[in-house]
Amino acid sequence: MSTEHNHSDDPLHAKKEAWSGRFSEPVAEFVLRYTQSVSFDKRMALADIAGSLAHAQMLCQCGVISEQDLADIRRGMAQITDEIKSGKFLWQLELEDVHLNIEARLTQLIGDAGKRLHTGRSRNDQVATDIRLYLRTEIDQIVEMLGHLQEVLVAQAHREYNTIMPGFTHMQVAQPVTFGHHMLAYVEMFDRDRERMLDLRRRVNRSPLGAAALAGTTYPIDRELTARLLGFEAVCQNSLDAVSDRDFGIEFTAAASLVMIHISRLSEELVYWMSQRFSFIQLPDRFTTGSSIMPQKKNPDVPETARGKCSRVVGDLMTMAMLMKGLPLAYNKDLQEDKEPVFDAIDTVKDTLRAFIEMMAGVEPNRAELRKAAAAGYPTATDLADYLARRGVPFRTAHDIVGRVVRLASERGCDIADLSLGELKSFSDVISEDVYEVLTLEGSIASRNHVGGTAPEQVLKQVARWEEIFKSRKAAGAH
Ligand code: ARG
Repeated sequence: MSTEHNHSDDPLHAKKEAWSGRFSEPVAEFVLRYTQSVSFDKRMALADIAGSLAHAQMLCQCGVISEQDLADIRRGMAQITDEIKSGKFLWQLELEDVHLNIEARLTQLIGDAGKRLHTGRSRNDQVATDIRLYLRTEIDQIVEMLGHLQEVLVAQAHREYNTIMPGFTHMQVAQPVTFGHHMLAYVEMFDRDRERMLDLRRRVNRSPLGAAALAGTTYPIDRELTARLLGFEAVCQNSLDAVSDRDFGIEFTAAASLVMIHISRLSEELVYWMSQRFSFIQLPDRFTTGSSIMPQKKNPDVPETARGKCSRVVGDLMTMAMLMKGLPLAYNKDLQEDKEPVFDAIDTVKDTLRAFIEMMAGVEPNRAELRKAAAAGYPTATDLADYLARRGVPFRTAHDIVGRVVRLASERGCDIADLSLGELKSFSDVISEDVYEVLTLEGSIASRNHVGGTAPEQVLKQVARWEEIFKSRKAAGAH
């Protein structure tokens, strides 16, 4: 361990102080390591300091500590902040968690005022405050990244609004769609993900501070004041609930799981689109890797990794849900296990979004292959049925007629549009020369011209709608 600054000679001094003289022997070395959280909760250090500063200011305004104490606490915390930011802070496992590490250092720096900071507070409301503050900032970054990804996909949709590709159901060629329309489907998914994040943020952004250990405190505290100072939208209204529920962590990992599930669906498509059997797209080389044995290989490692990482974020959700299940009121040490899954979900989602923002901007659709694939498999059969129905043939009858037309074409090994007018007419006399217009891929996509349809005109309208939304987000200072 580094010794950049000189903590007390006995590192356990502060911890022993925290529990006073109740104990006759020190905690076993293994137990210390088993129950510690500082190795992972130190990443909430700045949130912890922010919470402490707000608490100290409130204690002072309420007459619980003196102006001098507050000034000392501020000075000490400023130094600790510097030490943490410059990597000089000496984190000690023996001090268990981020809270006791910072408090011990504060007391070492400023003496008794440091020991007064914990008046009217417990680590139980302190940790709940920290994790909410920390998560709030991360949610904002995730929301911004989701916005970036949407922008990249909308730009793809704009460029490829007219690019025809096969639309699939059951992985069978169904009807032609445009590549732009396909991209916009994901823009919708990521928009709901964004909404979910913003919605759950409101429930994250409530202040547990003042709940103390579980029942509140005997000091004349002002919970509204600390909530305001910390930018919380509201105060948790029940102290037992405030220190003991992590439902916001479940909500967050659930929303993070949905982000990853959507990314995983997209990944699956990118993977098969890259396969030689499809050759629908190229990914930028820097997002692919080779094989150590097969020199010809170019593997879509990033989408595959993302598809795999989806499972770990869903695992984080399971961890959070199981952590809460059956947990009695109020705080229990089990709750320390809330941090790693939440942090893991944050890191995984952010890394994944970062990769996808850059990668999706570089996706190059292979227009000729997409078109070829769209033409195979009679994708305009529904258009022919609609054509007959428009001329008075009941749709079910039209469906049956077209089924027979498709059978003839497939026996011949040709497309429907390759059959002569005479041959087509032999199936139904309502068919005339203009039938060939609906049998083309262009005719097929252009005719699905309503809100949500795949017509290039509609894709462009959607692109314009999204661009307006991005503009107003920017004007509001957010993505
Ligand atoms: N490290 C603990 C956690 O993460 C802080 C709260 C501990 N409270 C207690 N009473 N032991 O939950």
